[in-house]
Amino acid sequence: MRHFLASRGFWLVLGLPLYYVLYQIGQVLWVRSSALGPDPAQALVTLLGEIALWMLILVLGVSPFRQLFHFKQLQRQRRAMGVACFGYALLHWIAYAALLLEWQWEALGEDLLERPYIIVGFLAGLILLAMAVTSNDWSVRRLSSRWKRLHRWGYLAAVLVVLHVFWIARSNYFEILVYALVVVGLLAARGSWFVKKMKAFKEI
Ligand code: HEM
Repeated sequence: MRHFLASRGFWLVLGLPLYYVLYQIGQVLWVRSSALGPDPAQALVTLLGEIALWMLILVLGVSPFRQLFHFKQLQRQRRAMGVACFGYALLHWIAYAALLLEWQWEALGEDLLERPYIIVGFLAGLILLAMAVTSNDWSVRRLSSRWKRLHRWGYLAAVLVVLHVFWIARSNYFEILVYALVVVGLLAARGSWFVKKMKAFKEI
């Protein structure tokens, strides 16, 4: 298990959602144009966004999981998971620009006014970008304690994405409630860990 987590095989697992997306695109192009529903472009943007959000939840879930089950190996792979999360968020953004905006940048301003939730998603995307580019040993050494602080912004990214999704919703509020509860749970887990650390610090 330890070896697998450190191997390229782990990247293949992180790529599983991508194979699924490619399979769906293949279906739409060559088998059944309605495979992704009546609006495949919008469905694809949504699918990639959902994958990115679940990946972000998994990344933030690593620390509580590790503390609960003393499973240190997964912590080492957190960075790979974070990079994969950013990759899916980037694909989500590219799908938006290519399929919904059709690369018409002059329409972006109008779209931002009409759909301000895009700005919120963009801010979350910027945080993911900052985390992805600093996911290497050099940045960990260089930023030292600031690295941890920067990577805690992942929680803010998750809150922003829930807001992004909430803003978009026209129905199915149950799904958003699930996302919101999971993110609140992760923040609470983070908080209780923080409180324990503070107490331990005071006892020294
Ligand atoms: C980079 C900036 C971003 C842009 C421009 C953007 C744009 C969009 C757009 C236009 C939609 C709506 C598609 C529709 O019409 O139904 C959408 C949905 C979604 N986005 Fe983003 N987004 C961004 C960042 C993110 C990030 C960083 C995440 C997650 C990590 C995310 C997660 C989602 C999810 C889950 C949905 C689906 C909501 C639903 O259930 O309908 N987005 N995004």
